[in-house]
Amino acid sequence: MNFDLSEDVELMRSHVRDFAQAEIASVAPLLDKYPEFPWKSLRKMGEMGLLGMLTPEAYGGSGLDTLTYVVMLEEISAADASHGTIMSVTNGLPQSMLLEHGTPVQKDTYLPKLASGEWIGSFCLSEPHCGSDAVAMKTKAEKVEGGYKLSGTKAWITSGSEAQVYLVMAKTDPQAGARGVSCFIVEKGTKGMIFGKPEEKMGQHAAITTTVIFDDCFVADEQLLGKEGQGFVYAMTSLDSGRIGIAAQALGIARAAFEAARDYADERIAFGKPIRENQGISFKLADMATQLEAARLLTYKAAWLKDRGYRVTQEASMAKLFSSEASAKITHAAIQILGAYGYSKDYPVERYFRDARVTEIYEGTSEIQRVVIARQIYRDLA
Ligand code: CAA
Repeated sequence: MNFDLSEDVELMRSHVRDFAQAEIASVAPLLDKYPEFPWKSLRKMGEMGLLGMLTPEAYGGSGLDTLTYVVMLEEISAADASHGTIMSVTNGLPQSMLLEHGTPVQKDTYLPKLASGEWIGSFCLSEPHCGSDAVAMKTKAEKVEGGYKLSGTKAWITSGSEAQVYLVMAKTDPQAGARGVSCFIVEKGTKGMIFGKPEEKMGQHAAITTTVIFDDCFVADEQLLGKEGQGFVYAMTSLDSGRIGIAAQALGIARAAFEAARDYADERIAFGKPIRENQGISFKLADMATQLEAARLLTYKAAWLKDRGYRVTQEASMAKLFSSEASAKITHAAIQILGAYGYSKDYPVERYFRDARVTEIYEGTSEIQRVVIARQIYRDLA
């Protein structure tokens, strides 16, 4: 039985599922083989309001809640994980940061374009030498007349070179640790901003990932987001939302793998009966279904609490940790159930397995999620 969502959400889910299966799942194998940023389907997702789901209608967004957002993100990701990543990053990180900390002018300038999907947003925190230890970043923003000069290299940037707006964390006070980081809004095309070539990755090939290099890149004072020295905290709070999105994405990939395995186990005959009648297969399916359900409930709970204004640092990390690890297990088991077909590119499950893997790495590795959860356990006692 499904979680008891409102009729409106169920209707929207069914509409988004039909669209995703017809227009995204059908192109996913091709995009995997010949990687290309999926502008055509992103434009349609923009028209459907899926790229500005949490942004208020006043800024051209859908003004929906986080629970509705994760339900739709699961649907998109079940069709193709790359679309899920692009959707999750542009909704969950740049738009949420602009909404939370932007000036009226910054909001008016960027949110309508991002929410409509005309522009895609990107988030620049990691660097070649630091992902988990984000405070160790070397990118600097030196104060000059009328603005700042950015210099440094950001790595593993989702939608790098394709996105038009980049929220860039850089040190304005290198001696001040986390409190010396500020956040800047940088538009593609700004002089001194250079993109690396797309990374060759194990999966999620259409979610183009590049380095972004800042070579004495001037940004005006007006491009500082919020207050100087607050950029790290802004990045961390937006990752609290972003991680709920990755949990939903991992869930979508896992569901697609589970459904493929469930159907195959019903159709495939071995020793005179469908293989699902063998305990070796049925117990696997039972474990997969249970993990899916638990991942969904943790994801929904984090979203539900966020919608009620609670700080969700711990719940978001728990949802991402569990859902991404469940997705790895479920996609692994799906290949086992399909046997040689699971290992073949004729079926999508090998792609699901490759696509799921990075959900345990980006927006904070599983190890970082455990660090965050463990710290919160003691913070809650204090
Ligand atoms: N909410 C609010 N404030 C927070 C916070 C949160 N969730 N997490 C940290 N902070 C605040 C702290 O309170 C602290 O503030 P004070 O200076 O006032 O004390 C400040 O931020 C520094 O925090 P920590 O001392 O905890 O910092 P740390 O160096 O120990 O790092 C960490 C903490 C949790 C390990 C953090 O570095 C982290 O999350 N690392 C992983 C980074 C990450 O997820 N990167 C993903 C890259 S983006 C990506 O993948 C996107 C994509 O394109 C797909």
